Amino acid sequence: MKLSELSTPALCVDVDVLQRNVERMAAFFRGRSCALRPHFKAHKTPAIARVQAAAGCAGFTCATLDEAEVLAAHGFDDLLIANELLDSTKTDRLRALADRARVTVAVDSLAGVALLRDLPLAALVDVNVGLPRCGVPPGGAVEIARAVADSHLQLRGVMGYEGHAMGIMDRESRAQTAREAMANLLGVADELRVAGLEVEVVSAGGTGTYDITGTIPGVTEVQAGSYALMDTTYARFGLPFAEAVRCLATVLSVQGGLAVLDAGLKALAVDHGSPELPDDVPASVLFLSDEHTTLATDAGFAARPGDRLWLRPSHVDPTVNLHDRLFAIRSDEVLDVWRVEARGYRASPH
Ligand SMILES: Cc1ncc(COP(=O)(O)O)c(C=O)c1O
Repeated sequence: MKLSELSTPALCVDVDVLQRNVERMAAFFRGRSCALRPHFKAHKTPAIARVQAAAGCAGFTCATLDEAEVLAAHGFDDLLIANELLDSTKTDRLRALADRARVTVAVDSLAGVALLRDLPLAALVDVNVGLPRCGVPPGGAVEIARAVADSHLQLRGVMGYEGHAMGIMDRESRAQTAREAMANLLGVADELRVAGLEVEVVSAGGTGTYDITGTIPGVTEVQAGSYALMDTTYARFGLPFAEAVRCLATVLSVQGGLAVLDAGLKALAVDHGSPELPDDVPASVLFLSDEHTTLATDAGFAARPGDRLWLRPSHVDPTVNLHDRLFAIRSDEVLDVWRVEARGYRASPH
């Protein structure tokens, strides 16, 4: 099939760019003591997980039980749900999942341990290393770890996501923030060991810090996700990964300095700002509405109603989650159609 035969909006993945990104990240971790555990939430697409597994990785990271279930159904059997699970309606599903895969979850409270304590799962104590999100403050980690050790859960170690470092453009400041976060996390790991508790895993990191966090002695795995498909936000960081995902849109209208495309807020996430046009299109994105992106056109803008243009997503994870399918392309050929199988949430009750 040709690109021109796709209905728009269509989220397309350049398979060669994807392959290069995945290979670069896998090559970085090859032969190191720290492993790569790619974050599945960035693409939610088993076909892409297969590319990552073929290049080499130590299992996958997930944000939700739904993601882990999809990966397990595709035969991936070493899964970290790097998130707290406090929803009591999910325990049966977790038990069933544990029959198919080694499942490790994050805990940061006694309530979390109490809910999961009899399930055949492993656990990491989630430590707050500076991102104002989940994670027990470093001083509270031993108490949670002991509770895990006293339950049927297997204590495997600690995790601490330094997400507050990830958006810092300046590399040295980003590295400094990540190093401070990891010093906190490794300090907690040592405290647990001194208390006689098991710490085999120290899990952290993302695309913005993979070569910082991933080279700190004692960190055992990095949870990077965005590197596979990338977006305009990470593209500004000068990382060795290129944008592999773009949204194909049709021009609906061109009038007096404006042009309107048929992909809007329901096709592209804007929490990191508007999507961008390729550099060679003399126009800029003004704003998005439900089904439209409005462009301010410059002299030389030549597209006409019915023509097609690319939009470059600003934030890959929530953008992919808006689409049922990704189209795997090489120049103007559509090679494959990949289901974004873990998008959305499973209906409950189901
Ligand atoms: C817990 C956790 N680990 C890893 C990542 C992956 O980060 P990145 O998108 O920078 O690859 C995220 C992303 O938000 C995350 O929440």
